[in-house]
Amino acid sequence: MRADVARFIGAPDAREIVFVRGTTEAINLVAHSWGRGNVGAGETVVTTEYEHHSNIVPWQLLARERGAGLEYVNIDDNGELVLADLERHLATGTVRLVAFSLVSNVLGTISDARKIISMCRAAGAMTLVDAAQAVPHMPVDVASLGCDFFAFSGHKMLGPTGIGALWARRETLESMDPFHGGGDMIREVHRQESTWNDVPYKFEAGTPGIAATIGLGEAIRYLEGIGMARVRAHGDALTRHAMESLSAVRGLRIYGTREPSRRGGVISFNFHDVHPHDVAQIVDGEGVAMRSGHHCAQVLMERLGVPATSRASFYVYNTAEDVDALVAALQKVARTFRVG
Ligand SMILES: Cc1ncc(COP(=O)(O)O)c(C=O)c1O
Repeated sequence: MRADVARFIGAPDAREIVFVRGTTEAINLVAHSWGRGNVGAGETVVTTEYEHHSNIVPWQLLARERGAGLEYVNIDDNGELVLADLERHLATGTVRLVAFSLVSNVLGTISDARKIISMCRAAGAMTLVDAAQAVPHMPVDVASLGCDFFAFSGHKMLGPTGIGALWARRETLESMDPFHGGGDMIREVHRQESTWNDVPYKFEAGTPGIAATIGLGEAIRYLEGIGMARVRAHGDALTRHAMESLSAVRGLRIYGTREPSRRGGVISFNFHDVHPHDVAQIVDGEGVAMRSGHHCAQVLMERLGVPATSRASFYVYNTAEDVDALVAALQKVARTFRVG
């Protein structure tokens, strides 16, 4: 199973894959085991305005504990990261880590990860890529990406809940202290001290989620059977179709870039003054499942100046007819609330 994950994300060595409960646990592991040993008072962690809470709160906890700073890369009105802002942070010389998502779970923006990583490397900062919304939707290759940490979850890619993975280079993992203590992560335990197992087991305390891990392996093989380039092409075609059709819905404001090639398969939007929960309810009545709320991205909601958005997302099981049904349901919302 570890070898399946390594192959799927282009990791050179299966021993560099740490099984975790999901992206959230992976990021907490890094904040705890790498952050405590490497981020001190006066130093800085940088994240971005479009992160999921799981790529913000662990850094807040670390910053508070270590007396460190937490800074944000701003987004522009197109929903893209402002790289000059990253440059400004890096120029302070205090940045130890930059943690950003490869694909925003709200705006769908695909980060310019290679550029960001090369800027960080040049400034001596480590990088963590939250790939929760990328791994399910497009081919990824950690070896050529050049980041230091890479995290994703199984349940967003047709796998079970409670399983995900963290990748980091072996020497990085070896330099880090354990996360949780208990069985399996040790070599020897004595009354006052213990020694640690090899990586990745050093980070996998206790009985693993065996069934979930097997399920993740099956999901990977299923997606590989389709081919990730085809998965991406399908998502891209649906997103293009949706962006085009949604532009005909009166009063609809779509967030993020209009350029479909810069987007993953999510589209967030609002009707002028209709609450997203009302939108979701009407759309649900038309048989279309959509999410509304802050999407665990309240920093981004603040930036957009809204409490919530509606969000449609597409995956391998969706068709162009599903997009048409969404558009028809949103036309109904516009008629019901006399928008536009
Ligand atoms: C971009 C992003 N990061 C992190 C997470 C957290 O993933 P999990 O809840 O599986 O740990 C999510 C889930 O919604 C996400 O979309």
